[in-house]
Amino acid sequence: MNTVTVGIRGGEVVEPTGRRRTELLISEGRIVDVGDNAGEGADVVLDASGCFVTSGLVDLHTHMREPGREEAETVHTAAVGAARGGFTTVCAMPNTTPAIDSPALVRDILRLGENVPCRVLPVGAITKDRAGRELAPMGEMADLGVTMFTDDGTGVADNALMRRAMEYASGLGVTLAQHCEDPALAGGGAMHEGEWSARLGIPGQPAEAEELMVMRDIALSRLTGARIHFQHLSTAGSVEMVRRARAARLAVSAEATTHHFTLTHAECRTFDPVFKVHPPLRTSDDVAAVRAGLADGTIDAIATDHAPHTPETKDLPFDQAPPGMLGLETALALALTELDLPLERILDLMSWTPARIAGLGDDHGSLAVGSRADICVVDPNDTWTVSGRAMASRSRNTPYEGRTLTGRVRHTVYAGRPVFVDGEDNL
Ligand code: DOR
Repeated sequence: MNTVTVGIRGGEVVEPTGRRRTELLISEGRIVDVGDNAGEGADVVLDASGCFVTSGLVDLHTHMREPGREEAETVHTAAVGAARGGFTTVCAMPNTTPAIDSPALVRDILRLGENVPCRVLPVGAITKDRAGRELAPMGEMADLGVTMFTDDGTGVADNALMRRAMEYASGLGVTLAQHCEDPALAGGGAMHEGEWSARLGIPGQPAEAEELMVMRDIALSRLTGARIHFQHLSTAGSVEMVRRARAARLAVSAEATTHHFTLTHAECRTFDPVFKVHPPLRTSDDVAAVRAGLADGTIDAIATDHAPHTPETKDLPFDQAPPGMLGLETALALALTELDLPLERILDLMSWTPARIAGLGDDHGSLAVGSRADICVVDPNDTWTVSGRAMASRSRNTPYEGRTLTGRVRHTVYAGRPVFVDGEDNL
């Protein structure tokens, strides 16, 4: 087999250890040379002038919809969107039909992820069919390499069952991730309960529906010693509880989505269901608290919660439409445009730390000789306008339609293969 070499030339390499202008040479999925002119003479040369070059982004929260909802998205279409967004690894949420709650389903996702342009890590369900009644066979799924479990879409409401899940998970050395939403208190609310839900007459769910489950899981983590990862934190109260839990050295981590640091519940005034999401868009004080948590290290990761829904379902009236928004292709640009954070902090939130939480090991971020060639090349100054139609997804439900963002992925290299080159899919 002929080995194709790839050179990345003219950019600034950004690693956890610092920045430097240098070139990379890639062969057989690994970085084989780093230095001035290392990329010269490669079979494929990627021009990185004006760009930073860094480890591929890692999304802890992607809904790929396969199996069961292929009309909205497939593992392949989601992976193409991921590559366009600079992601080289995504964690596939288990709220598929059927749910990823058995070794057979895990094998299916692994197989579907074999020939797509990013790594797909199946996330297992905590309970069978995500029904919240009986634990799923987490051990058997862990034997296939699954390191994270969640019932995402819903939280595990039963306190005793969650305690048992935590005890089981700590024995297995895996991470439980929680969608914090007390179902009784959320009561089917379609948006945040507050000023706007009252004005619009849309049933709301209070911040406390999230916060009670965050509080309970912190308590259960203290009781069991289990590691708990909080998904899509959205309220100031949740951020503050996680801040205190970390100060008390409990084994907690947390993510926030791009929409929860960008949009507020006021968007719902249009009655456009594109702004319906769970947890719901909150107040400007909550957005400020999420941003503060991202800045001070309370929140470890930015996740997309990429949740495709077809126009046929998403165009229903607000209270009937399914919750969720597309996120893979806009996440990095939103972080670069909206957050007043150093580039290294943004990369830590979108690549280096989520890689550790996803179990990819501690050296993701290094672009030294021998590292896996999962790389994205980003022009931080390029501006572009968001268009749902132009996205790889089978769905169109972006809440950022028409918005101009600064920062654009130019190339993505996955396992040594340039899968997105000069803004074009290269499959
Ligand atoms: O808005 C959401 N959409 N929140 C979730 O937790 C699930 C997701 C989905 O699967 O559509």
